[in-house]
Amino acid sequence: MSRSSFPSQRPRRLRQAPWLRNLVQEHRLHVSDLIWPIFVQEGDQLASPIESMPGVERLTIDLAIQKAQEAQQLGIPAIAIFPATPPTLKTPEAEEALNPENLACRAVRAVKAEAPNIGIICDVALDPYSSHGQDGLVRNGIVVNDETVEVLCRQAVVQAEAGCDVIAPSDMMDGRVGAIRKALDSAGFEQVSILAYAAKYASAFYGPFRDAVGSAANLGSGDKKTYQMNPSNTQEALQEVALDIQEGADMVMVKPGMPYLDIVQRVKATFEVPTFAYQVSGEYAMLSAAAEKGWLNREQVMMESLLAFKRAGADGILTYFALEVARSLAENGS
Ligand code: PBG
Repeated sequence: MSRSSFPSQRPRRLRQAPWLRNLVQEHRLHVSDLIWPIFVQEGDQLASPIESMPGVERLTIDLAIQKAQEAQQLGIPAIAIFPATPPTLKTPEAEEALNPENLACRAVRAVKAEAPNIGIICDVALDPYSSHGQDGLVRNGIVVNDETVEVLCRQAVVQAEAGCDVIAPSDMMDGRVGAIRKALDSAGFEQVSILAYAAKYASAFYGPFRDAVGSAANLGSGDKKTYQMNPSNTQEALQEVALDIQEGADMVMVKPGMPYLDIVQRVKATFEVPTFAYQVSGEYAMLSAAAEKGWLNREQVMMESLLAFKRAGADGILTYFALEVARSLAENGS
């Protein structure tokens, strides 16, 4: 498109007043873009702060219900529930993942009963339950693929039985989306959808999350590089997304978020399916810590960072800021 140039073109003309900037604004953050990840723990009436995530707390189920109700009232479409499993229940085979009475399943049932109009998303992966902190089963020091997938299928069905609406495989095993889709369908859960962590990178930005669910100590000096992706790769992300869509993913996700917005943009442009991004714990920690120091304005960087996801093409964002953003949008509009 050919345009005239200065002085007939003056881009500042459209920036001179709030009403005008608002009128020509291309992207907007809306409360319906938000998915709120929450951490649950055992006990009653207990909110335990997570040191590396200032402002985020592990909640007992009774308190999680109240927060879910508030989120629902504010118009947040969905929450993602992550359990901080008591260390005594973590085992090498992660059997607790298949217990219909485990913390995550009880939380799902309780929230469904008390906040029926908010969607519930559950991760499928073994790391909250394994004593080695890996997302899969370990045989001779190797995270094995196919045997893990069988367990993940059972985990997905147990979560669907508890009332989970969206199953989110975050394990990065090959072939798991197709297998989980089949398992859900044969258990009668063809309406339960799959949000695949399709392009999930082996990222150091997950550190605070691992503190929150207590898997950091279990993982020790281990890493997840044999299944999560190499941060240097783009083509591989597109390949991963293509496979997950082929296998039946309804929605796909890129993770982490801010350092990987190029991937979000490529995925959205290439596949044209609902595409989500996860502003992960380390991103939250970074912004929160700088704000605590008075180096950044928390409210402003929160909004600006989330708008960047929209600009990249994300249909929605998983963010620990979700409740705060929703409150702010309710007060100030966009
Ligand atoms: C578990 C899982 C992780 C996150 C979401 N699901 C951690 C990991 O893969 O080690 C990270 C989320 C965050 O950092 O906020 N597989």
